[in-house]
Amino acid sequence: MLPLDHPFWKDFEERCRERHLENYRKLQGDINRLDPEQIGTFEMVHCSGVLYHMPDPVSAILRLRSVTERYLILSSAVVPSRIVTSQGAELNLPPGCALFVPAIDGAVAKALRQYWSACGVELPEVGQGTAGPWMRYGKDAKKSRMGSIDYSSWWWFFTERALEGMLQTAGFKIVDKHAGWGSRAMSYLCERDTPPLPVVEVGLARYERRGAEREA
Ligand SMILES: C[S@@+](CC[C@H](N)C(=O)[O-])C[C@H]1O[C@@H](n2cnc3c(N)ncnc32)[C@H](O)[C@@H]1O
Repeated sequence: MLPLDHPFWKDFEERCRERHLENYRKLQGDINRLDPEQIGTFEMVHCSGVLYHMPDPVSAILRLRSVTERYLILSSAVVPSRIVTSQGAELNLPPGCALFVPAIDGAVAKALRQYWSACGVELPEVGQGTAGPWMRYGKDAKKSRMGSIDYSSWWWFFTERALEGMLQTAGFKIVDKHAGWGSRAMSYLCERDTPPLPVVEVGLARYERRGAEREA
């Protein structure tokens, strides 16, 4: 998450004060290590702009689920099924498709770079066989309200349907949704539903067991 001294937190605190909301805690940590035994559980969890920075997004959603008692608000960048840029690039993606950034090249990379550039997000790494870094502004930091943070690599371009499929697979029911950022982002209000598909839990458990064996 954003460093606790980032200006966005000041905005957040001001808004909470205006609404007389005091019942919150700020914790800084790695989404991949969220552990209810360490930090407890929360009636509502909000995760914004993080998922596409995760090489393993379904595991990250399962981590969020492990600390969510009822509601998850999840916002993420998405790409539409059809892109036509003002420079003449065209891209059609099947529903349910997610593009793995390090594997994108050629005309697809060009269309995506132009699409994001139109809203001021320059992604020169897309098409270079790498996932990042993204938003490491260095000496140009002052130009951006986001600051000079390395936000971690951009691993995925999700279509809306792919993101919804991941949330559902991880055991959430989508109650409401809202498009933002000129339809470049979606926010979902999700409610804990059925348990995640067994295969997901089994896969994650196996992965964690291997990690524990390595550390032992
Ligand atoms: C695009 S910014 C979004 C910032 C803010 N949440 C928002 O919605 O405006 C990406 C955020 O993902 C965070 N991030 C990247 N990898 C993370 C991880 N493994 N665990 C938690 N946060 C992470 C970065 O620190 C950064 O704050």
